[in-house]
Amino acid sequence: MKVCVIGVGYVGLVTGVCLAEIGHDVICVDNIESKIEKLNNGISPIYEPGLEKFIEKNMKSGKLNFTTNLKYGVEKGEIIFISVGTPSLSNGQADLSYVEAVAVEVGKYINDEKIIVNKSTVPIGSGDWVSMVVSESIEKNNLNKDVKFNVASNPEFLREGSAVGDTFFPDRIVIGSSSKKAIEKMLELYKPIIEQSFGWPPDVPRLLPKGQKIPVVVSDLTSAEMIKYAANSFLATKISYINEVANICEKVGADILKVAEGIGLDSRIGPKFLNAGIGWGGSCFPKDVSALAYIANEYGMTPQILNSIINVNREQRLKIVKKVQDELKIVKGKTIAVLGIAFKPDTDDTREAPSISIMNSLINLGAKIKAYDPIVKERPHTLSEKVTLSKDSYDAIKDADLLIIATEWDEFRTLDYAKIKNTMNHNIIIDGRNMFNKEKFEDLGFKYMGIGR
Ligand SMILES: NC(=O)c1ccc[n+]([C@@H]2O[C@H](COP(=O)([O-])OP(=O)(O)OC[C@H]3O[C@@H](n4cnc5c(N)ncnc54)[C@H](O)[C@@H]3O)[C@@H](O)[C@H]2O)c1
Repeated sequence: MKVCVIGVGYVGLVTGVCLAEIGHDVICVDNIESKIEKLNNGISPIYEPGLEKFIEKNMKSGKLNFTTNLKYGVEKGEIIFISVGTPSLSNGQADLSYVEAVAVEVGKYINDEKIIVNKSTVPIGSGDWVSMVVSESIEKNNLNKDVKFNVASNPEFLREGSAVGDTFFPDRIVIGSSSKKAIEKMLELYKPIIEQSFGWPPDVPRLLPKGQKIPVVVSDLTSAEMIKYAANSFLATKISYINEVANICEKVGADILKVAEGIGLDSRIGPKFLNAGIGWGGSCFPKDVSALAYIANEYGMTPQILNSIINVNREQRLKIVKKVQDELKIVKGKTIAVLGIAFKPDTDDTREAPSISIMNSLINLGAKIKAYDPIVKERPHTLSEKVTLSKDSYDAIKDADLLIIATEWDEFRTLDYAKIKNTMNHNIIIDGRNMFNKEKFEDLGFKYMGIGR
């Protein structure tokens, strides 16, 4: 099938590449020229393990093309994915201006019957709204007023850092539409994934056995849109819940690692997302929880659980700052090393990263911060100019009064902490991700603090 993906970010790029790999002809469109130029040179503009190999292979075979020419993509594609960003406005509402701009352009250039798919995470009702925007644009801008289209919602559940595997081997595929034809086309598009029948490089392990069927949830548009918000809000709730339990553990002297193990073995609960830490961040949870809360407010409801998890998460970051104050007493003039800037390991995404709000708060208290991340090499625009970016972990930690682990990159597990101890001013470590064995660090002579232990 011929596919056009508009918005070549973490979601659009991975979606486009994987659809090409399972045999479709894909045109990926973005309005940032430098991004398209990089991609046309076979370079991924984002850090996503395993992705570049598939980009290269599918560009070579001609199945995957990158362009800034939206008209070309829309005219060629039978299925048009909208996968642009939907960030938060200051009131928590999702900013749909990027989706709207694309929908207007699609209406302008649509030349025959298409399926327009909302891949972006969009508020409930956006499917019908996109349909309206496209129709209005056809009416206004298109010579062919009778051109037909159907809208589908196909929310994305990939995780940055394992996006390629998540796309080929998803837990489920959700397709929402009021059009039977659109649903049938989408099922045909995803058939090789649903049936796990696609070819796979022999040197990369398959995450699911060939032939094992992927569950598909077919629904109306509204339910599909709600599934995405409800899923992300539930995962964020799980993290905020374990963080709250961790805070109680600290007070009563329990160990959150044992508590999480004990409750996670309950099959009704499960072990995932029970890692206490400095809170959730990233490009999805914060904006999606806020957007769902905003929607509830619009309907006159008070979303009490959603409001609480937002507050618990905000306070969790402040708790780290408080721990630093408790340890250093006077923060002004002290040197603090921060390992990890990305919101989680295996990505270069720093949107809403807890590390950033923690560093900015400490800078406001007068601390000197030296930060290091294995992949994030450019200062995120949200990070204070006063934070020094170090060339490696050892450089960041040298002469520090305190070390904060903010992202659980594997690289930090194998540092020579015995050597590090001798280069620090004071041997205090706040392990914001509970990466390390407390006793081991205490044996090395560190004052070690995790979360909830
Ligand atoms: N990042 C994730 O892990 C993830 C997971 C699931 C769902 N989502 C959702 O997917 C959507 C996209 O997220 P993302 O992280 O990929 O965003 P992103 O910011 O990484 O990518 C969006 C891309 O859209 C492009 N774009 C914006 N306006 C455009 C236009 N008019 N024409 C062409 N291109 C345009 C931007 O240049 C950018 O490259 C969001 O709604 C997000 O909530 C993201």
